[in-house]
Amino acid sequence: MTVMQTTVVVPTSTALFCGLLISAAGAAFVGLVAAAPTSTTLGSPLRSDFPILDERIDGKPLVYFDNAASSHMPKPVLEAIERYYQHQHSNVHRGAHTLALRATEAFESARSSVAAFLNARRREEIVFTSGATEGINLVAQTWGEANIGEGDEIILSVMEHHSNIVPWQLLAKRKGATIKYIQMDENECLDMSSFESLLSPRTKMVGIVAVSNTLGCSNPIAEIVRQSHAVGAKVLVDACQAVPHKKIDVNALDCDWLVASGHKMMGPTGIGVLYGKYEVLESMPPWMGGGEMIEDVYFDHSTYLDPPSRFEAGTPPIAQAVALGAAVDYLNKLGMDNIAEYEKDVSSYLYRRLGDIPDLRLYGPDPIAQGHSRAALVAFNHDNIHASDLSTFLDQEGIAVRAGHHCTQPLHRLLGAAGSIRASLYVYNTRQEIDCFIDALHRVIQMFSDIPEAPGIDLGFAALGMEGLSLLTAGEMGPNDEGEGEVME
Ligand SMILES: Cc1ncc(COP(=O)(O)O)c(C=O)c1O
Repeated sequence: MTVMQTTVVVPTSTALFCGLLISAAGAAFVGLVAAAPTSTTLGSPLRSDFPILDERIDGKPLVYFDNAASSHMPKPVLEAIERYYQHQHSNVHRGAHTLALRATEAFESARSSVAAFLNARRREEIVFTSGATEGINLVAQTWGEANIGEGDEIILSVMEHHSNIVPWQLLAKRKGATIKYIQMDENECLDMSSFESLLSPRTKMVGIVAVSNTLGCSNPIAEIVRQSHAVGAKVLVDACQAVPHKKIDVNALDCDWLVASGHKMMGPTGIGVLYGKYEVLESMPPWMGGGEMIEDVYFDHSTYLDPPSRFEAGTPPIAQAVALGAAVDYLNKLGMDNIAEYEKDVSSYLYRRLGDIPDLRLYGPDPIAQGHSRAALVAFNHDNIHASDLSTFLDQEGIAVRAGHHCTQPLHRLLGAAGSIRASLYVYNTRQEIDCFIDALHRVIQMFSDIPEAPGIDLGFAALGMEGLSLLTAGEMGPNDEGEGEVME
């Protein structure tokens, strides 16, 4: 389906002008979205719902392309947080007064919304966590502790986020288990033949990312689950980059667990979701001990509640869960199929525009040449310019992209790079913003190529009147040089 944004003609000369047009287009279509969203009313028409998108960076309009790290919250979510604190706030599950009942009702109704959103069979299959990382650690330290032993094998893939590697490494070390990694194929997608060659009766657990936060490829989760179950292994799906962008049906996938982060799906930070099949959650021992998760406590022992309470010790992130419920309502109103269709369009546009720039190496499958569907994110490197330098100078143009290893350091080593730049889109981003980004990228690359080769790279910067001289040393490093700090996600 053709997306409406092409009706706005965007001059490519100044980012400032780009931003004005984006805002104007947004203001014009707000009503349409409220009436009946389709993929053609996403993008510009949504932008007025997201106040932060009007921010200016050094006087330039913000182009926010760091959504794979954290997305932004629309007004209904911000309002839900305010409403909660002004009218509903108290603690949950433990009071008979009106505010305690309101807080409990708001918190539990968020659980129901998330359960319906993921098509869980029961609302008790949703455990609220602080994030996806906590969800994975919870599974590794409860189910893993009870079920993984000496000689057992855990299968992960080379494209996992650190949060789906390190908890299993800690477990494997404690238990004497082995971790094996599914490789990439020549298109930088998951190699299913590698997976099949690793799978055996020794496999007890498969941890797999649904959509890679670096390669952008979508993995065949239902097939992985089917084959894993056939050898008796359980499957945990890291769906952080999938749940915000397309319809995910845990029932259809038949996975044992699935994790997602609130802050990547228009919700706040500090909230995540662990879905688990009820019978699997029921078989798991408790994790953290404390209030809320117990049935009875004696001086010498305690008994525990059923899931999900068993895994929610202490006061939970109540306002965050309520806000996540509002985010889910908002996503439902937009329609997950509409979002996926819209993002497919902007994603191929982004890939095509980046692909036209000389000396850029784009990671992950080529959606056009190889016909692969990929997420609305592209990680890349310039042959001669360090990712951190590019991203810092792009920031001076108002463009927020991520530079670093995106918590996929082992994958970056395989790709032969210490890090990369990543531009990641969401449903409020537009083709016009992509044009602004590409123009800015050309300008920054040109600026670097104008710098004389002679010693004293600072002279080049000074001559250009550019700020950011702190990058002088990094400016002399290639994309393969180590030398950047930990940059989360
Ligand atoms: C694929 C993937 N898995 C896991 C995480 C960790 O999520 P959280 O920040 O909710 O712990 C992220 C994001 O940081 C991610 O992109």
